[in-house]
Amino acid sequence: MHNCTITTESAPEALKIVLSDRLPADLPSIVKTEAEAVQAEKSRKSATIITDAGRFVILKLDDSSWIKDNGENIRILGKQIVDAIRTEKATAGAFISELSDCESRAIAEGIILGDYKFLTCRSGDAAKRDAIAVSLPTANADQVATGIQMAEAQNFARHLGDLPGNLINPQLFLEKATEAFSGIEGIKLKSIYGIDELRDAGFPGLVQVGKAGSTAPALLEIHYTPETTTTDDKLALVGKGLTFDAGGVSLKPAAGMWQMKGDMGGACAVIGAIKAIAALKPAISVTAYIPLAENLMDSVAQRPGDIYQARNGKYIHVDNTDAEGRLVLADVLTYACENGATHMVDAATLTGAVILGLGHSVAAVMGNDSELIESIKTAGEKTGEAWWELPMYPEYRALLDHPHADLNNTGGRPAGTITAGIFLSEFVNEGVKWAHCDIAGTSMQFDKPWRYYDKGLIAFAARSFTQLAEDLASK
Ligand code: BES
Ligand code: ZN
Ligand code: ZN
Repeated sequence: MHNCTITTESAPEALKIVLSDRLPADLPSIVKTEAEAVQAEKSRKSATIITDAGRFVILKLDDSSWIKDNGENIRILGKQIVDAIRTEKATAGAFISELSDCESRAIAEGIILGDYKFLTCRSGDAAKRDAIAVSLPTANADQVATGIQMAEAQNFARHLGDLPGNLINPQLFLEKATEAFSGIEGIKLKSIYGIDELRDAGFPGLVQVGKAGSTAPALLEIHYTPETTTTDDKLALVGKGLTFDAGGVSLKPAAGMWQMKGDMGGACAVIGAIKAIAALKPAISVTAYIPLAENLMDSVAQRPGDIYQARNGKYIHVDNTDAEGRLVLADVLTYACENGATHMVDAATLTGAVILGLGHSVAAVMGNDSELIESIKTAGEKTGEAWWELPMYPEYRALLDHPHADLNNTGGRPAGTITAGIFLSEFVNEGVKWAHCDIAGTSMQFDKPWRYYDKGLIAFAARSFTQLAEDLASK
């Protein structure tokens, strides 16, 4: 987790941090000269300078075109600030350049998200981290508080996602979520745990996928009811929670299979969003639905060729047990519609194809309602998460045809992300506005740190979904 607190009080004793192109008026002239040099030199991103008035760190804003207009440069600055404090071995730093209201939220997010590290499995010195404090005397205190709440909720979700498969499973996820959400005003939890229980409650997809897991599968519901509502809309957020995806009998190749400990990115997005929503209290009802399972194989595992009947009556042929995400989501989408959702958004690390199409910086969105899709894209622009719409091209529905069942669970390699979306659309009830978010590329960043994120699970979409709830509430 992060080990950092933020205040908006001034901290005269702290390490002073300034932006090279935003210098406060009363700086020692030697700092000004050095700042101008940092600003002018392309290759220099920072400088430290010791003066009679104390130690100063000069930082430069990242001005890459794709991160300038969405606050990402300021979130990255947050990370630069905590890194500078730790590099200088200080316990406190004060950022004394000017900040606007909207930058105040972003910088707080960047500081808390940027200081996150997954240290649960480190020992000795590597497990130790000093607590640091950041002072933001020029920031808007309310916006900072909002940013902290958002980022702490996201870090909670990242931590769940970073836990490896031996330390998190459907049962443990339920336990940890129950502990984290109990006693929060406006929140009610409901869960179904167990194979028989899920079969009886009408979730055959979770049973099919999760019956060979190391624990039983589960469905977790987290209901947020605001004190007062400004709308009759009900938002459902549905997140794929595969605590590990080996592929099942259609086993994945060994190389890189470990990355599937992160196949719960959708669940993390949704749990992060609902945690932030519970703190920020938008005036709209929101429910998070989190199907949890582990896709392994044993003698009771589902087989390729199995055919089963989904909650909405449609028969599904299991062509490939590794296309399990759509199976666990299908019944839950139907269930959320039955529960009165007017707007439904799901997030899932659903297809490898989205990585080939969009890479690790942009996520895919598609659905049945252009206004809702537009709202997600707008929420992403406000929060620094990029979304790209893919077409639900109707001609591709035929790729899911099967002679013995209503639907095949794979549509072949071409347009793999779109056919997965079309599969899900078959389980959304008439009249419900729905969008599907494939975050397989953006949700896990295992190769290198990304922006202000350390390597690992991002909980990508947690901020877009929180913003979406806020925007729908104030429509
Ligand atoms: N969890 C994977 C998708 C995935 C791949 C997420 C890489 C993150 C990184 C999903 O369950 C899966 O295996 N999908 C298959 C579907 C195929 C069999 C139709 C895929 O994308 O290969
Ligand atoms: Zn899979
Ligand atoms: Zn999966």
